[in-house]
Amino acid sequence: MALLNSSPRIAIIGAGIIGLSGAYELAVRRGARVSIYDTRSPGRGASWAAAGMLAPAFEAADEPGQHPRFFELCLQGAAAWPDFANELSARSGLDIGFSRVPCLAAATGSSEETRLGRIAARLTAARIEHSALTAQDILRREPALTPEVISGLELPSDLRVNNRQVVDALISALRACPKVRFVPGPAPLRSAAGQLRLEGHDVILGAAGWETAVIKVEVRGQLFNLVNWETALDDIESYGGQMLSVADGAGAPKHVVRAGHVYLVPRDGRVVIGATVEPDRVIDEPDDVAIEALRLEAVQLCPGLADAPVLERWAGVRPGTPDHAPFIGGTRTPGLFVAAGHFRNGILLAPVTARIIADQILGKEAGELAAAFSLRRAYTATA
Ligand code: GLY
Repeated sequence: MALLNSSPRIAIIGAGIIGLSGAYELAVRRGARVSIYDTRSPGRGASWAAAGMLAPAFEAADEPGQHPRFFELCLQGAAAWPDFANELSARSGLDIGFSRVPCLAAATGSSEETRLGRIAARLTAARIEHSALTAQDILRREPALTPEVISGLELPSDLRVNNRQVVDALISALRACPKVRFVPGPAPLRSAAGQLRLEGHDVILGAAGWETAVIKVEVRGQLFNLVNWETALDDIESYGGQMLSVADGAGAPKHVVRAGHVYLVPRDGRVVIGATVEPDRVIDEPDDVAIEALRLEAVQLCPGLADAPVLERWAGVRPGTPDHAPFIGGTRTPGLFVAAGHFRNGILLAPVTARIIADQILGKEAGELAAAFSLRRAYTATA
């Protein structure tokens, strides 16, 4: 929907990395007036729980069941990060831990080696730089790895940021912007005469992750869920995730290391170890069994971590759609837009999502790829 008002007042509901990045793009970069509503502290949900990986190759080049153009979107996301990181650091004065050290993917068995081969083939076809590594190569780069590693990949496309510093930098840049207002609490949405309204605003952007469908709307004194104004929101499911960190030390890796579903991320003098993916679960607290299983998998990969003390354990909830790709775009309700459902790639996709949704809200051409992530898409998935 193109907006006639050249300076629309925009309400963003949800102050996670997607809502905050959208606000940054709309207000700081493009000068729109933005209010950001959240019932919780900004940036303390899934964005805080994440590990900060920007991993288009490992997480999107060969994932069964995903949107057929998801890898392209992830590549655009990765391409947007260097400028976004520089600008955000400069504007906020905060270091956001953007690291250009390539990720290493390790295989310790034949099925993982086969998967890495498929990722490499996809990267070759897309002309994305990568290197196949023998066991000796990967151990030379990362001596902390188990000698049982049989091969690997070096992935210069897969980098990392410190996600917690990113959200704090976004909050700081937004607080310094006179166009932005943070409003703690629920957005007072109303529906009257068939129109969805938030007083003082022209546009509403639902960006509340897995809770977007249950944003409340008042109709004649009664509260209803936002899903009634856009039925596609019902498709966003919760995927719990649990993680831990252990102390850094002689046996800790220097690179982000991936093997199967386990990842190790060196950060702030600790090693972050992730993550479980638990469909249909909303987890507030980590459980001992899942955390210990993850820790043992990490120790198999980096045996020197065996005695590293556990420093933190935490849990979060990822929002996932049926094709694991986000919803980005307008809805069947005039004035209501959505950016939600980023599953495992909210950090990677934050800058590109912000650019697309800002274009769409401001009535600009968002590009051909953007349309593939509309809420009205038919779900077709890769095999
Ligand atoms: N992208 C990492 C995770 O979802 O665990």
